[in-house]
Parts: sequence; structure tokens; C-alpha cells
Amino acid sequence: METVVSGIRSTGKLHLGNYYGAVKNFIKMQEQYNCFFFIADYHSLTTHPTPENLHGNVKHVLVEYLAAGLDPEKCTLYVQSDVPEVTELYLYLNMNAYLGELERSTSFKDKIRSQPNNVNAGLLTYPVLMAADIILHHATKVPVGKDQEQHLEMARTFGNRFNNLYQTAYFKEPYAFNFSEQLIKIPGLDGKGKMGKSEGEMNAVYLSDSPEIIKKKVMKAVTDGGPTVDNQEKPQEIQNLFDLMKVVSTEDTYQHFENAYNTCAIRYGDFKKQIAEDMILATADIRSKIEDIAQNTSLLHKVAKLGAEKARESASKTIKEVREIIGFRPF
Ligand code: TYM
Repeated sequence: METVVSGIRSTGKLHLGNYYGAVKNFIKMQEQYNCFFFIADYHSLTTHPTPENLHGNVKHVLVEYLAAGLDPEKCTLYVQSDVPEVTELYLYLNMNAYLGELERSTSFKDKIRSQPNNVNAGLLTYPVLMAADIILHHATKVPVGKDQEQHLEMARTFGNRFNNLYQTAYFKEPYAFNFSEQLIKIPGLDGKGKMGKSEGEMNAVYLSDSPEIIKKKVMKAVTDGGPTVDNQEKPQEIQNLFDLMKVVSTEDTYQHFENAYNTCAIRYGDFKKQIAEDMILATADIRSKIEDIAQNTSLLHKVAKLGAEKARESASKTIKEVREIIGFRPF
């Protein structure tokens, strides 16, 4: 059975980008594959959270994973820092990762721009830690959004380089995965780029947002003056709203508004109202579970403990074998 690994950084509550880009696939994959899903709390240290924030954010992700339908009986659900073996593999892979290629990573370049006062080595080697997460369990499929494609390419590079150096076929090649064949990028509500945690509170719709908040955010989304010629090309901010509608609404609804746009009959107020209603519906089930799960400390404790045990079993086997390959042999 193929192995699947994926994680989400503990940097806050999950939004629709995380859900449609990653978690929705996790839920389906746990039925068919040997899955490891985790909370990437080591990765979140690049932004220097306080201990309280770090712990609170790990809890947000764990609670929302469970509310979305991850089943600890069907997959291995764990907190990254409960499996310190990953840091050892990270160290070994770092010996084969070169400054030039790390500096060329787009996520690193973005970070230089967004946090110029904190360009730490953890940011530079972020893709190495991510590669270690993945190949630690010999994953071949990695459900992620489009923004992670380059990281997967780097994970293959680091795994292959290890194999070449030690003349082995030990690590397999992992590939980014989405059931819809294509990796997706969910846009935000600001009319510009992707939905993200760092793009401002109004840009992202969170799984835990109340219906009122969702309505408020969507109704405030940027639009233009409306189409003036039939079959006019959509400007970015309108295309983004259609992309959001595509994931939360039915095909009929989408077609209705697409036709309305193409015949210049669209009313953006109605369009946004429909998107908000469908978002509220799409997240209703998850939203209704978050509060109860968050209160259930004994469940969270049990899930994290079971996940750590299962993940460490797999991880320690890999580390033992890697040590042997590298030449760390007991006397
Ligand atoms: P993070 O926390 O930034 O994002 C978690 C997952 O959500 C996806 N995602 C999106 N997908 C579509 N549209 C969006 N707007 C959007 N925003 C976020 C991301 O693609 C990702 O799948 N590096 C990873 C965390 C990680 C990881 C790993 C993932 C660490 N180790 C090993 C897979 C395997 C990240 O930045 O996640």
C-alpha cells in the first residue's frame, strides 16, 4: 500500500485554502492509503511564536483536523515535535543541501520580502525539514496545494541525492497529489493572490468563522464595475470569486453566474450572497464540531499520544536504517 504524508504548520486556524488544497484530500486518502498527517510545529518556529501561541496553534490544527473528519484509527495523526527522529534526518539531509538551491526556493524569496528582519537559517532550510518529514515514512503521495509544488521537487532532489551518495535505492520519490489531478490554489478575498493566514484577517475565510463573519467577509470582497461587453475576460478579482464559487457551489449555480457574467446580467451583490451561503453550507458540519472537540482535552491527549507512538515506530525504523547506510555502526 502506498504511503501518504502531509502536514500543516501550526500558525493559526485553518482556512478554506488549507481545506480544499490539503485537508479534504486527507479525509479521502485515509480510506485508501497508509497515511501520516501531522501538525508542523517545528516549521512554525521560523516566525518565533510565544510558547502560549505555539501551543494554542497546535491545538487549533489538531481540533480542526478532527472536526474535518481525520480519524486517528484510520491514519497516523501526530504532532511533528513528538517525533524528534525527523530532526535527525533533517540534519543528514542538510549535509547534502546546497546554499544556492535553497536560496532559489520561491518560498524563501517570499519570506525575505515578508519578514526582512528575521531571515533565519530555519527559513533557508525549511524545504529540507519538509523533505525529512516526507521521506521519513517513505511517502510517495503528498496531498498539498499548488504553492508546495517546488518543495516536493526539492524533496525528490534531496532523497535522490542521498541515494546517489550512498549508492542505494533507499528513499522513494514523493509527488504532490490532489484527487482532482491538478494541484489547486484557492484565492483570497482581497482580489489579489492566494488565501493565506498572513494576508490579513479579511482575506481568508476560516473553518471556524461564524455564518455572520463569512457573510461579512464575502460581501466586502473586492469587485469591479461589472462587465460591459458580452463574453468579456474576467479581471483577477472577479475570476477569484468564480474560483471560490467553483469549490463551494454546485456546477448548476456556477454555470448560472457564469452565463450571467457573459451576458452582462450579473449582479455582484447576488453573486457574493450566493458564494457566502454556499461557503456557510460547505463548512457547517466542521464548524458545528470544533467547539466540542476543543473542550475535550482527554480526547486530544489520547489522539496525540496514539499518533506519536505510531509515527515514532515508523520513524525510528527509518533512522536505524539510515544510520546503518551512512556508516554509524555500533562497535
Ligand atoms: P501551510 O501550513 O502553509 O499550508 C498547509 C496546506 O494548505 C495548503 N494551502 C493552500 N492550498 C490551496 N490554496 C491556498 N490558498 C492554500 N493555502 C495553503 C498548502 O499547500 C499546504 O498543503 N510546508 C507546508 C507544511 C509542511 C508539509 C510537510 C506539507 C511541512 N512539512 C510535509 C507536506 C509534507 C506548509 O507550508 O503548509
